[in-house]
Amino acid sequence: MPIQIIVGTQWGDEGKGRIVDWYAAKSDFVARYNGGDNAGHSVTVGNTLFKLHLIPSGIIHPHAVAVLGNGMVINPQSLLAEMEMLKGHGILVGPQRLRISHAAHLITPSHQALDKALDAARGKGNIGTTGRGIGPAYTDKAIRRGLRFSDMMESSFLNKLNTLTREINNQLSSLGADEMDVAKIEQDFIQYRSILLPYITDVSILLSDAHEKKAFILAEGAQGTLLDIDHGTYPYVTSSSTTAPGVFSGLGLGLTTANGAIVTGVCKSFQTRVGSGPFPTEVIGEIAERLRGSGKNPWDEFGTTTGRARRVGWLDGVLLRYAVRINGLTELIITKMDILSGLMELKICVGYRKNGVEIRDIVFGPSNLEDYEPMYETMPGWDEDICGVREWDRLPHQARSYIAAISKLTGVPVRMVCVGPEREQVVTAK
Ligand code: GDP
Ligand code: IMO
Ligand code: MG
Repeated sequence: MPIQIIVGTQWGDEGKGRIVDWYAAKSDFVARYNGGDNAGHSVTVGNTLFKLHLIPSGIIHPHAVAVLGNGMVINPQSLLAEMEMLKGHGILVGPQRLRISHAAHLITPSHQALDKALDAARGKGNIGTTGRGIGPAYTDKAIRRGLRFSDMMESSFLNKLNTLTREINNQLSSLGADEMDVAKIEQDFIQYRSILLPYITDVSILLSDAHEKKAFILAEGAQGTLLDIDHGTYPYVTSSSTTAPGVFSGLGLGLTTANGAIVTGVCKSFQTRVGSGPFPTEVIGEIAERLRGSGKNPWDEFGTTTGRARRVGWLDGVLLRYAVRINGLTELIITKMDILSGLMELKICVGYRKNGVEIRDIVFGPSNLEDYEPMYETMPGWDEDICGVREWDRLPHQARSYIAAISKLTGVPVRMVCVGPEREQVVTAK
């Protein structure tokens, strides 16, 4: 069985969670390979809205085993809160169906404090991080002083934890921030360890064996292509490999398991971004308010993790084509088509202009988009409410033309479009 990978093609929040939920129905394993609780993945099932930050969205299906890979940075406090939330909905989250890599890194409250202090110190040029400690946890991984889940299995764990907390306290104090309480962190981690030890697994062995036995593995990306540490709008990115190749290092899967992989790019029908950084097709004013929504609906463009209003704009086809290249996408899914209803003119960015020169493709990465002026293809919109549509032929022809334009621009087939947040609000493309 090939592996299927779900990745965001934009700056996150494309609707990956609900797509993972869709494919999890036929998956044996659903695995996160990057990031931490900076992610916020929403899944709507009937009247219940699940907001997941760490545990793969597949957990909602009773048969799927959820896996947290070595590429992740995990805050045990958030993880336990999420496990409790799921239990409250009657979802079983024991060690038999939630496995955590021994090599995943731990986020401590010190990482969170340092993340906030560092971003505040950047002043006007801040990144607008989620404040979840992601950057500092990956920094500690890279400078090789980080704590991994496997450290919790050793008697030296508390010593290592205390040393790390003290070292970060020095950094906090040099930034003028409050130091953390070493003893309190130690007490909390003693508790986290006692609960989480049975969940720790060699995820590489688990998933490689499963792949050999023809199990279906679904990889759930967090964030999006343009937030990738290498290929995103650096420095306005997150600190992990968000793109499809990150699946293999982030789960400990060999490259031959990539043979025949389905690489599904999830793309919103327009563009959004939360946090700072370039955004060539950003719009403000009336259209922005229409795309963003007022905040009354749970799907309006306000961050799942931080509640911040998302910046919005027209779909950027140049960046989407870039996402196809970087991820090797084999198919696309377009979400939030329903939100475009009522906009009588739609725009897709098909190139940029800089100093009078036309640019059709991203060269030297997308970091320098600041003064790029978008060139748009304008298309007619539609007025009909499409939330109840389930068949391709019932979509307004303008909506079908919009999708056809995306396929043509990217050279990748659109498999499905979503017309509302609920599980069944999807239309298979023809
Ligand atoms: P993720 O981070 O990629 O999983 O996306 P988020 O969950 O952060 O944000 C996507 C938001 O859009 C959530 O509130 C979803 O419930 C909602 N959503 C997803 N697909 C659709 C859709 O087709 N239509 C509408 N109206 N909302 C959607
Ligand atoms: P999902 O998985 C949207 C953004 C932050 C900030 C930048 C760096 O829900 O799509 P970080 O805390 O990671 O150091 O912040 O990345 N960011 C996201 N934006 N969706 C996400 O995840 C994000 N995760 C991080 O807003 O701009
Ligand atoms: Mg999100």
